Amino acid sequence: MLRRIKAEQLQVGMFVSRLGGPWINHPFWRSRFLVSSDEQIEQILAANVQDVWIDILKGRNLPMQSTPEVADSEVDAQPESGFEDELEHARELIKSGRAVIGSIFNDVRMGHALETNGALLLVDSASTSLSRHSQALLAMARLKAKDDYTYLHSYSVCALMIAVGRTLKLPDGEVRELGLAGLVHDIGKLTLPESLLMKAGDLSPAEYEQMRRHPSAGYRILNEARLYTNIPLDVCVHHHERVDGKGYPFGLFESEISVHAKIAAICDTYDSLTSPRPNHLAWSPARAMEYIAVRVDTLFDRRVFKAFTRTVGIYPLGTVLRLRSGRLAVVCGQNANEPLRPRVMTFYSVSQSAPLPHEVLDLTQSEDSVIAFEDARQWGFTDEQLMAMYAPHVK
Ligand SMILES: [Fe+2]
Repeated sequence: MLRRIKAEQLQVGMFVSRLGGPWINHPFWRSRFLVSSDEQIEQILAANVQDVWIDILKGRNLPMQSTPEVADSEVDAQPESGFEDELEHARELIKSGRAVIGSIFNDVRMGHALETNGALLLVDSASTSLSRHSQALLAMARLKAKDDYTYLHSYSVCALMIAVGRTLKLPDGEVRELGLAGLVHDIGKLTLPESLLMKAGDLSPAEYEQMRRHPSAGYRILNEARLYTNIPLDVCVHHHERVDGKGYPFGLFESEISVHAKIAAICDTYDSLTSPRPNHLAWSPARAMEYIAVRVDTLFDRRVFKAFTRTVGIYPLGTVLRLRSGRLAVVCGQNANEPLRPRVMTFYSVSQSAPLPHEVLDLTQSEDSVIAFEDARQWGFTDEQLMAMYAPHVK
């Protein structure tokens, strides 16, 4: 996993993967190497190299206190991307994120301390991607295989929480903590047996009770890791609290639950419902939105839900809709003022049971309208196939 730093931040033990500027001018003919001496660093500085990409999976990382400034400047420097370009970045991010999360979780399973530097880098990379395009990482992170759920659920919730935090215009530092909270919210599940986590059928009352202990177990892990930042601790222990007081572990009521834990409750539920899990087929994003919407004010907070719908749309990208004209269409854009009338791309005629030439419609400008949302699989389409169809039309 690559990270860009200033050349003067280089340290012995870091693995250089790329040097900024035309490398032919550098005395370092091998552009990938482990920095083994101060002399090497002096040579790099003398060659007027400004930026260096280090691979933090192969060598030392920068100490913690340097992370925010570098991350902030990277965020500021990010130009907006097209959706398709950013999808490719998102695919790579998720791939490297899976490896980093896997190694963080393995360390915790083996009783080692939580490696927060790696986690913060993932948060910053998700944040940077969302700055370039607000939807690409969210759309890509939803596509996960059943086997990847444990790892990628954390990353998806991290990205969703950052995006909702931005919609709510929370300060940058708070949004960063929210992202970290998303990554570690379920870390207490690492204390549960794999057989329980992967169980395909319903849980017995005893197993359910065991599962309900993961927020407190997570809190203990974060404390042992000396991760004393408030938001991850709060989210870890309170993401299953519900506004009607029927959540766990404490049965807190609406005003007793922080906005951060309320954000986590919705992001966690949405990602769980839209992901394939051992005991659950992935729901369409619109079905998950409907599930949460009808539970606003009983399980979920109204203000946070509103921010969530502004972030991903009432009909999120990739949702299949049936139109009054008898056509199936996939959502390829939102209309902020009229969320029930998104931009769509038609692709299938229900009456003729046949594919249609693709046509993009803005439903705020069209005679046609939505009559229902559909499950893409029932029409023989995977989410990946739909993404390939609608991606070129996303603005
Ligand atoms: Fe949980």
